[in-house]
Amino acid sequence: MFPERRMRRLRSGKIRDLVRETSLSVNDLIYPVFVNEIINESEEVASMPGVFNLPLDMVADDAKEAADLGIPAMILFGIPEHKDEKGSSAWGDEDIVQQAVREIKNELGKDMLVITDVCLCEYTDHGHCGMVDFDTEEIMNDPTLPLLGKTALSHVKAGADMVAPSGMMDGMISAIRSELDKNNFHNTPIMSYAAKYSSAFYGPFRDAAGSGCCFGDRSTHQMDPANSDEALMEAALDIEEGADIIMVKPALPYLDILYRLKTEFEIPTAAYNVSGEYSMLKAAAQNGWLDEKQVMYESLISIKRAGADMIITYFAKEMAQMLK
Ligand code: PBG
Repeated sequence: MFPERRMRRLRSGKIRDLVRETSLSVNDLIYPVFVNEIINESEEVASMPGVFNLPLDMVADDAKEAADLGIPAMILFGIPEHKDEKGSSAWGDEDIVQQAVREIKNELGKDMLVITDVCLCEYTDHGHCGMVDFDTEEIMNDPTLPLLGKTALSHVKAGADMVAPSGMMDGMISAIRSELDKNNFHNTPIMSYAAKYSSAFYGPFRDAAGSGCCFGDRSTHQMDPANSDEALMEAALDIEEGADIIMVKPALPYLDILYRLKTEFEIPTAAYNVSGEYSMLKAAAQNGWLDEKQVMYESLISIKRAGADMIITYFAKEMAQMLK
């Protein structure tokens, strides 16, 4: 008449801590940073309270703050002054990301792992992730690959510790791997946005990075949210091409994908807790509808539980502060 197995025995006090299966540490966090060539002062992104576009001369200090909180890594996004059809401000040695990498590495050296996002969408005037055939509005795969290769190489030459191609072009990992290897950067790892879905949760990011499209959308190269097996194939191809870390993006609506990938491939796996996931919680918290700290922790621990080894999150600094 009474329960024999009482699950509640392990749920309170210190024993609750002892039986906890998953943990979240500051070492799991990757801090995303937007460096903007156009501005002179930091500008808060309207749709992402607490997230800023930074001018070049503020980037190193910001990185130092993150390092002081114990955050091991950051990922850089550049917003260039000049945009054109090909995204030619993406790969110059004096372009915005390359300069930002040098500033941060000069300041922090090995105390901060600097990852760069490798994609053309912030650099093209049409906002697409690759070269476009304007007659057909097709985003051309193969002509884009060498541009990604030289962009990645320029980041690494500037001192980037790892590159993260996010454009979902077929063959982008091998294009980048071979370019890096040819230039003796065999030891620089690639974190591939392997399963990147065509998601409306990127909306606020496109405000932050000014990378919205003026025609068409990204559904010709980003994945269909309805698919799951396809993510396995994407990841398998990227691993074969040389990806060292695979990523699932967005995170929370795709925890099943994260779980499947981690279980199937057993390699380091990242999750991108994207802009829309951040903004939803921020907006609700600002209205007093959710407890921000609790939902932040619950979201991030859920992403870990699903299989992520590391999380790119706009909450990085806040979470690090809370973990202290
Ligand atoms: C592409 C890129 C995007 C994000 C990261 N890298 C935008 C896109 O694919 O449209 C989105 C990240 C976010 O929403 O936080 N450079």
